[in-house]
Amino acid sequence: MSALNETYTLSNGVKIPKIGFGTWQIENGDEAYNSVLLALKNGYRHIDTAEGYQNEESVGRAIRDSNIPREEIFVTSKLESHIKNYEDAKKAFEQTLEHLGFEYLDLFLIHAPWPWSEMGKDCREGNLEAFRAMEEFYKAGKIRAIGVSNFSPDDLENIIQNNEIVPHVNQIGYFIGIDQKETIDYCEKHNIFIEAYSPLGIGYLLSNTDIQKVAKKYHRSTAQICIKYLLQKGVAPLPKSVHENRIIENAQMDFTITEEDMAFLDTIKGDPRRWE
Ligand code: A2P
Repeated sequence: MSALNETYTLSNGVKIPKIGFGTWQIENGDEAYNSVLLALKNGYRHIDTAEGYQNEESVGRAIRDSNIPREEIFVTSKLESHIKNYEDAKKAFEQTLEHLGFEYLDLFLIHAPWPWSEMGKDCREGNLEAFRAMEEFYKAGKIRAIGVSNFSPDDLENIIQNNEIVPHVNQIGYFIGIDQKETIDYCEKHNIFIEAYSPLGIGYLLSNTDIQKVAKKYHRSTAQICIKYLLQKGVAPLPKSVHENRIIENAQMDFTITEEDMAFLDTIKGDPRRWE
């Protein structure tokens, strides 16, 4: 069995394929359409998009054109970060379904606790309203699991204390160098599953010489070590690539990193991402 067929189980019993195909920074149109089709052709059954990526239309079309039954593909999208009230959240979800061309979604997440343009703003009430709208769609069978993204323990506590459903998922930036310990400990305690976006540190981790050394030892690529590290942490990595050879490589996980090497990778500290 390949890592693409293996699944984790969310707290509500829904199964989620261990590796997802990330589509952030893949442009709507041919690029998104072709790369999602390539991912599906090569066995990926978990596709991650967002309203904010502005590629839902091409992602949905690729999934429909693949001729793989819809129920065999786990699809995630996200509510845009600035939508922080009940009515707009409802409208936005309907719009996501329309853009994708689907009847239902497997997972829908609040993209961030605050608008990207006002990071850190207190949006507690707005997050409760947005999540309430998602709870209703969940109960109506329109979404199979609901959750959040980029939420800290405090942000999660707000939802848990005041809403009905404990989020099934928290999708966070998680890769070698940033351990996310506090958030992961909190999520473990509340049975909230972690998805890891930017598993390669948006590519910048690939020039890390310590990870390169480990890769050499296993005769694997640096990207494969980064992704396997996250699988061995029990989370779902969401690697992104528009190149078929890399899409294939990122899912070849038939090796194990020893505990000793995992501990070594844990000693690497720092976020290498640059925003140029
Ligand atoms: P590209 O899409 O041109 O292949 P992350 O998943 O952390 O966001 O990282 C994505 C970045 O890493 C993209 O720039 C992507 O480039 C690059 N990338 C993805 N997979 C690989 C790979 N196996 N080898 C080298 N670069 C990769």
